Amino acid sequence: VAAAMAAERGPAMATCTAPVNIAVIKYWGKRDTDLILPINSSLSVTLHQDQLKTTTTAAASRDFTEDRLWLNGKEADVGHPRVQACLREVRRLARKRRGGGEDTAALSLSYKIHIASENNFPTAAGLASSAAGYACLVSALARLYGLEEELSEVARRGSGSACRSMFGGFVQWQRGERPDGTDSLALQVAPETHWPELRVLVLVVSGEKKPVGSTVGMQTSVETSPLLKHRAEVVVPERLAQMMRHIRDRDFEGFGQLAMRDSNQFHATCLDTFPPIFYLTDLSRHIIALAHRYNAHHGHTKVAYTFDAGPNAVIFALADTVAEFVEVVRRSFPPATNGDRFVRGLPVGSAALSPELVAAVVTEPVPGAVQYILHTKPGPGPQLVDDPSQHLLGADGLPRSRA
Ligand code: DP6
Repeated sequence: VAAAMAAERGPAMATCTAPVNIAVIKYWGKRDTDLILPINSSLSVTLHQDQLKTTTTAAASRDFTEDRLWLNGKEADVGHPRVQACLREVRRLARKRRGGGEDTAALSLSYKIHIASENNFPTAAGLASSAAGYACLVSALARLYGLEEELSEVARRGSGSACRSMFGGFVQWQRGERPDGTDSLALQVAPETHWPELRVLVLVVSGEKKPVGSTVGMQTSVETSPLLKHRAEVVVPERLAQMMRHIRDRDFEGFGQLAMRDSNQFHATCLDTFPPIFYLTDLSRHIIALAHRYNAHHGHTKVAYTFDAGPNAVIFALADTVAEFVEVVRRSFPPATNGDRFVRGLPVGSAALSPELVAAVVTEPVPGAVQYILHTKPGPGPQLVDDPSQHLLGADGLPRSRA
């Protein structure tokens, strides 16, 4: 009778969404590869989920016979060590919370779970999706088991940068000192409302896959790059303090310059790695030069670029600069086919470029090199989805057919 009732009720379920983040002081290198403990602290901006988000449903039922995972509708390996680490840690915390006592109302920790996760952006676009993915997995599992504590330490076990996606706005991942990693966690530096004029443009480039994944790449850097060691020991501690001040003061000049310098130093450590790793491409360098010409024309920092372990460029700007810079990008990389969908996300006004600006900044256009521009801004951390019709899993515990 109990089993029939449980089946009738269907599985226990929780759905959350989580954001992507982009680092302005980069994380590159681990001191502990198993616990994912970094060699330096890092700092990022959480991007708005209206444009980029992961949604994850976690379900548990006595009727499930094995743990299962679906990514964007396709079944994936639930045995992946990092997925398992997150699952294990959440279950451990749930067990600890219950203090060993038998809470009959609580969801049994022995039930198998089903997880379905999907992105509201094309995975092929090469936008950092593992950070949002693991932050979302941990948020949904925490809800399922009724955990209320701060869980960036658990998300970190999925992917280092994922711990920063557990908060909105401006987020620091402090490296911590302890060997067990209990002090290596994310802290919000300022909420997403702190700097209302700040905007983000993701230049999605017509892309190939990245040559070396960040997990493998950064370990080769740790083993071979003296510049990375210097960066972690000397440069980052100073820059982190500076960056916190620039954010506090909403100083775009300082923020933008430091973001560009830190992106460049990260890519310099990649070149200093042996054998070297190349994430920047001719197109990245083209975009970097364009940003510098644009800033030089205006006589101050109006736009700031940053690049991760892939070819897409992320540009920071203040709202009053967006329309003009988007037009500069459109002229510099004339869209091949999808001219109407070249700009996506938040609306962008139109801007007329002065002949002086065009002459100084738009040199040698490269048609079709930028696929589209995604206009977004800083946003909040993971959210609970209350509406049960939004669950990605049906009452049978299987992915709902997607429209
Ligand atoms: C260049 O977090 O993807 O984006 O911890 O091995 O999963 P793992 O690496 P990951 O590395 C991100 C590196 C970066 C810089 C950053 O986001 O800080």
